[in-house]
Amino acid sequence: MQDMIDRLKGEHEDIAGAIRALLPRVGRRPVSRLALEDTLRLLDTRVAPHERDEEEKLFPRFGAATDPLEPVLEAHAAIEEGRKALRDALADWLAGAAGADPEALACRAEEVLHQVLEHFQAEERQVFTLARVEAAPAPATKAARA
Ligand SMILES: [Fe+2]
Ligand SMILES: [Fe+2]
Repeated sequence: MQDMIDRLKGEHEDIAGAIRALLPRVGRRPVSRLALEDTLRLLDTRVAPHERDEEEKLFPRFGAATDPLEPVLEAHAAIEEGRKALRDALADWLAGAAGADPEALACRAEEVLHQVLEHFQAEERQVFTLARVEAAPAPATKAARA
């Protein structure tokens, strides 16, 4: 389990670095189409597969200890919802749909990126720490040491 935690934590660092590099571009006004497309690409190709991986490979290992997972799963769902909303709104804007608002789109992109950063921190505190405890070998008993 420790190898998996280390890999996921490494992905957090890589993705967070990419988000920090992207945020100033998404915050510029008028926002560029490329900055929004890069945001969606990051969410599609790195964030979504990372979260899926956690849900499929890490979280089931907690068995009945699901309490700490609830807020994490809620955050995954909120990020996924934000990713889909951004994808649809970006497609509308690029298709020239009436009422498509690039400023609102940029704000939504910034919001989702911040949500991911906050989620990574919370997940490391709430879940990765617990996973380390679960993975640690049980302390040797007196009888075992004797
Ligand atoms: Fe996650
Ligand atoms: Fe994660």
